[in-house]
Amino acid sequence: MSSPELIRDPAAWQRRCTAARDGGTRIALVPTMGYLHDGHLSLMREARRRADQGGRPGLSLATIFVNPAQFGPSEDLDRYPRDLEGDLARCGSAGVDLVLAPEDPAAVYPAGFQTWVEVGEVSKGLCGDRRPGHFRGVATVVAKLLGLSRPHVALFGDKDWQQLQVLRRMVLDLDMGIEVVGMPIIREPDGLALSSRNAYLSADERPRAVAISRALDEARRRAAAGDRDPRELAAGITRALLEAGMRIDYVELVHPETLRPVARAEPGTRAILAAFLGRTRLIDNVGLP
Ligand code: PAJ
Repeated sequence: MSSPELIRDPAAWQRRCTAARDGGTRIALVPTMGYLHDGHLSLMREARRRADQGGRPGLSLATIFVNPAQFGPSEDLDRYPRDLEGDLARCGSAGVDLVLAPEDPAAVYPAGFQTWVEVGEVSKGLCGDRRPGHFRGVATVVAKLLGLSRPHVALFGDKDWQQLQVLRRMVLDLDMGIEVVGMPIIREPDGLALSSRNAYLSADERPRAVAISRALDEARRRAAAGDRDPRELAAGITRALLEAGMRIDYVELVHPETLRPVARAEPGTRAILAAFLGRTRLIDNVGLP
C-alpha cells in the first residue's frame, strides 16, 4: 500500500478535513503519539473499515503528536521514542490516507493558548492520582484533534482503559456527536500488552514483564472459578508482580465505566494496574468473566 500524505500544519489539516466532511465524506480518526506498533495498527485498520462504511470510500486519518501537556515534569517526554519515517510506512500498510504530525508543540499550543478540558470523577483515582494533570492534557489535546479533524468516528485502545472512559465522558458531556470506539488490547505472543514504552525495557527486564498479563489471566481464572472477593483478587495480582521484582503503582478492581472500586467482582469488573519494572512504568487491564 502507498504511503499516506503527511501534513505538518494543523490549520492546513483542518481545511482539508472540513472540505472532506462538507463534501459528505465519512471520516475516521486514530490519535497517537507515534512509535507505532501492531496495537496502533489494529485501530487504523478498523478506522479504514469504518470510514469506508456505506459503499463510498471515506477518509482514514491518523495523528502523531507527542503531547507535552500530558507528561509530568519528571516523566519521559524528552526520551519518548520517535520514528516518523517508519511510522508513515506503517500507517500506509494499515490504509491510512492522511497523517497529521505537527513538528513543533507551539503549532498545537500557540502563544495565548489558555483553554483546558477537565473531566471530573472518572479522571480521578488510578492513573489520574499518580499522574496529576495527565488526563487534563489528554482530554485537551484529543478535544483539539477532534476539532481539527471533524471525524464521524474516533478509535482508542482498551489498553488505556481509564483514558478511554475519560474520552467517552468528554465526548458525551460536550455534545461532540462523535462515535467513540474502544478496541481490544493487542499483545505479544507471551502476553505482554504492546506499548511504545516497551522499548525502554532491557534484555533482562523484558522476559520478566510477562508476569503482568499472567497475573491478570490468573485473576480471570480465579473469578471464573467463583472467587469474587476484589481484595483477594488484587492481593493475588500484587503478589505475582512483587515476585517478578516490580514496584506496584496500583492494583485495583473497579467498575468498568465509573472506575470506582467494587465491593464484589461482578462480570465486567475491570482488574487494572500500573507497575514499574526498573524505570519503566507499564499498565494493563482485563475484564473479569
Ligand atoms: P498512544 O500511547 O500512542 O496510543 C494511541 C492509541 O493506541 C490509544 O488509543 C491507545 O489506547 C492505543 N493502544 C496502545 N497500545 C495498544 C495495544 N497494545 N492494543 C490496542 N490499542 C493500543 O494514548 C495515547 O497515545 C495518547 O494519550 C493520545 C490519546 C494520542 C493523546 O495524546
